[in-house]
Amino acid sequence: MERTVVRVSIFGLLLAFGGAQPNKDDWEIYSFHINSTVTSRYATTVITSRVVNRKDESTEVEFHVRIPKNAFISKFRMFMDDQVYDGEVKAKEAAQQQYTQAVSRGESAGIVSSVGRTLEEFKTSVTVAPLKKVTFELTYEELFRRRLGKYELQIFARPMQPVKDFKVDVYIHEKAGINYMDIKGGLSTNALANAITKTLADKQAWVYFYPTVDQQKTCDSCGEQGLNGDLVIVYDVNRHKSLGDIKRSKGYFVHHFAPSSLLRIPKNVVFVIDQSGSMHGRKMEQTRIALLHILSDLAAEDYFGLITFDSNLFYWKRELVQANADNVESAKTFASNIKDRGSTNINTALLEGSRMLNEQPRQGSASILILLTDGDPTSGVTNLEQIQSNVREAIQDKFPLYCLGFGFDVNFAFLESMSLQNNGVARRIYEDSDADLQLKGFYDEVANPLLTNVTMSYSSSANLTQTKFSQYYNGSEIVVAGQITDNDVETFVPQVVAISRNASIVFSDANGTTESTDDSNLQRVWAYLTVKQLLDKELQLSGVEKEKVKSEALRLSLKYGFVTPLTSMVVTKPSEETTEVLHKPSEDTPPLSRRTSMGMHPGILSKGQSRRTSGGSHLDPQAGVYPGSGSRFSSVDPQAGVYPSLGSRFSSGNYPNLHLPAHPGFQALPGLKVVTGSPGLPGHKGEAGPPMLHDLVTDYDYRYDSLPIAPTTLSVAPGVRFLLQAENQSLPLCFDIAGRTILRLLHLPNAGVSVNGELDEDQGFIKIIVHFDTDNFVAVELGAVTVKYEQKLTRYTGDTALVAGSVAVFIRPTEVDITAGQTRLLILVHGKNGKDFLWPALRQQPSDDAVGILAQKAVVYEEVHQGPYTKLKIKDQEISVSRSSAVDFGMNLPATLACWLMSPESALRAPLSDFTLKVL
Ligand SMILES: *[C@@H]1O[C@H](CO)[C@@H](O)[C@H](O)[C@H]1NC(C)=O
Ligand SMILES: *[C@@H]1O[C@H](CO)[C@@H](O)[C@H](O)[C@H]1NC(C)=O
Ligand SMILES: *[C@@H]1O[C@H](CO)[C@@H](O)[C@H](O)[C@H]1NC(C)=O
Ligand SMILES: *[C@@H]1O[C@H](CO)[C@@H](O)[C@H](O)[C@H]1NC(C)=O
Repeated sequence: MERTVVRVSIFGLLLAFGGAQPNKDDWEIYSFHINSTVTSRYATTVITSRVVNRKDESTEVEFHVRIPKNAFISKFRMFMDDQVYDGEVKAKEAAQQQYTQAVSRGESAGIVSSVGRTLEEFKTSVTVAPLKKVTFELTYEELFRRRLGKYELQIFARPMQPVKDFKVDVYIHEKAGINYMDIKGGLSTNALANAITKTLADKQAWVYFYPTVDQQKTCDSCGEQGLNGDLVIVYDVNRHKSLGDIKRSKGYFVHHFAPSSLLRIPKNVVFVIDQSGSMHGRKMEQTRIALLHILSDLAAEDYFGLITFDSNLFYWKRELVQANADNVESAKTFASNIKDRGSTNINTALLEGSRMLNEQPRQGSASILILLTDGDPTSGVTNLEQIQSNVREAIQDKFPLYCLGFGFDVNFAFLESMSLQNNGVARRIYEDSDADLQLKGFYDEVANPLLTNVTMSYSSSANLTQTKFSQYYNGSEIVVAGQITDNDVETFVPQVVAISRNASIVFSDANGTTESTDDSNLQRVWAYLTVKQLLDKELQLSGVEKEKVKSEALRLSLKYGFVTPLTSMVVTKPSEETTEVLHKPSEDTPPLSRRTSMGMHPGILSKGQSRRTSGGSHLDPQAGVYPGSGSRFSSVDPQAGVYPSLGSRFSSGNYPNLHLPAHPGFQALPGLKVVTGSPGLPGHKGEAGPPMLHDLVTDYDYRYDSLPIAPTTLSVAPGVRFLLQAENQSLPLCFDIAGRTILRLLHLPNAGVSVNGELDEDQGFIKIIVHFDTDNFVAVELGAVTVKYEQKLTRYTGDTALVAGSVAVFIRPTEVDITAGQTRLLILVHGKNGKDFLWPALRQQPSDDAVGILAQKAVVYEEVHQGPYTKLKIKDQEISVSRSSAVDFGMNLPATLACWLMSPESALRAPLSDFTLKVL
């Protein structure tokens, strides 16, 4: 009760603790145990500290531990005088009230909690009567994330004094079998090595760490205060089945999926690097070093791009290039010369990075956009919502965006929600001597994509956690949990469909060997994962949707007793009748060490200064932002929710509807007139001569008028123009097909797959049907996708992924991505003259027996000039052509190309009727 300072900020609290710290000589920790039990990568750790007050007067006794950041505290108890004082998890608002009341009564009311790189702190104290004892017991739970091929259990031991009975017990149980285990961390050094016992027995492992008092004083980084360091238990499990481990128990299941025997998918990666003034000095140097290492590690089959930005953009190259030795060397020279200057234009930089990736949709590759920045947007578009909306627009769920926030001047909440909105994650890079290794380490995690478009499905299940993942990398793991609705083992069928390097893959377990266990933790694993994902989702949403997600996350946090950013633990203390409240710190709360050195940070130029000159040397722990930093940051209160008005687009979920306008003629196929034969060249009589190349370059508004269309006064039916690639970078061929035709786009007799498309008059396709066997099909129209599978017809209108047998369909706002066996077809939506249409693009080479318009191989021809006329010689046949242009709609961003126009028969070297379908 001697502490009566009203503490309104963490900084204030620290000072107060400095002044009134409990005297550690007055009390003795006679026992300190850390007991961690891991079952199927879910760790429950209990820290028990038993303390006696040696003095003959009441003394304040402290309990101060660090726990993994990724964990949720689920229990805190104090035992004193045969009484148990249980911490209670409450909604943050309720807890806040108790906190405020306690503060207004002049009582100490805060449990210091802060966040570091991997750990956060928990600290409390209680007044203990003379010669009495107290036991503190803290429980936290954590689902391990697999990174670079391993799981890590980190245990931090810093009891503040040598302890006679000090024990760390770790028990790991993995049914799949543990294939490797290692012990790392500051405490596993020489002096302490013989205090560690490690036993590994196939499915189980024990680690005991029982250092003597002497050892506790003599180890590296230890001293009179005893142990101060961590023990990191690193392990991985066997993976016998490519479908992974599926455990079920009491109506819940957890699926760990981490196949590794797959071919690496070549990647397209663009690095967007902040070189603004605030990167000055060590940050810039470390970024350069990391980039040099990363560039050296690119596989030769990868393509990459490098953009640096301040208020301007600086390209190494404007387009992606292959990571061959010459290009890598040249990029390294560019990277070594990156200089810091100017302000921060994140918007333009990200849009350019997206453009580079969008313009080069390589077959069978995985695209990745990586942003590294150390500050807030200060030039170009600076409105955070606007940037997020622009970036979403540019990326359209086609590839993940990873944001690396360097240091503590970044608006991490902004980066985090932007990454999450684009299927990525944000990572903080700590300003430290190893920042280059942190950067490289992050890159290594995404260096080897093995699968894209991973879709997990489970029949007879409900309340599933996330089931769609845009990319899966070697060394990582996908975890899905859910409820099983039907207790019948037979009906619970897990299946994973994904796209691998050269084909779509279905992972399934025909024998249905999901493992039934008596692991009562599965429900908690489900709850843990669900809450984590809801919290991530909340960051991306606004308005009603956000509130819905938030209240569900809160409900589950309360039900399972997790201390999350939405809940707090209220601890009512015995003798003093005071209340303490524990909040989970957010990633936006700078770590302790940083707070004390604020304002003395070296070398900050532009953006740092504006924030620091306002004398903001203390922090508001609730808001997690610098109070003195001006109104610019006022909308980024993590408590109030990030970006209150993200825009209506997000308010009803991610792409609630396919944003394709409904097409009137969308009902069915029957009754269409089939036109065979060719309209021939005259269809384009109206052209005022072929456009020259330089006209085409400026003619980038492909959406509206770049395709030459015959004037309506002509009686000849206009057609739809197709492109046929030519080898050796010669001009492609182009030809027109009159509309209202059903075309045979692709037929794979062996696979039983056929793709047909119905053309409208003059634009493109209005319906494309993929038959993947005699009975089943996927029909794509403007506004809807209809799937027939197992006698059932289902119509989808929203952003969905679905699996029908071995066919995977991903419906995205402006494209439908269909994979059947080794064939991957994108159906893109484009607009022209105010009307939308579909266009097919083959993204995965079908087998050699393929026929159809899409299966046409690139042609080889010779130009034969006769005066002003040009003929092309294709396989001994001379064909009259005229120079024209066509739009390549087979790309997300169509480009206008010059081409040689000829009749379809000449281009396809077969009667057009071979490519049209007769309607019966
Ligand atoms: C550790 O916790 C487990 C699970 O609660 C328990 O069975 C075990 O006895 C504990 N071990 C020790 C050494 O306290
Ligand atoms: C994936 O990782 C495993 C284990 O680290 C390794 O053996 C394998 O070669 C890797 N595969 C690829 C494609 O990188
Ligand atoms: C795809 O990769 C697998 C595994 O290497 C190989 O056996 C198969 O022939 C490949 N298929 C094609 C079409 O390249
Ligand atoms: C599945 O069951 C069949 C027949 O019972 C058996 O031959 C096969 O080896 C089993 N497969 C696996 C992966 O267990």
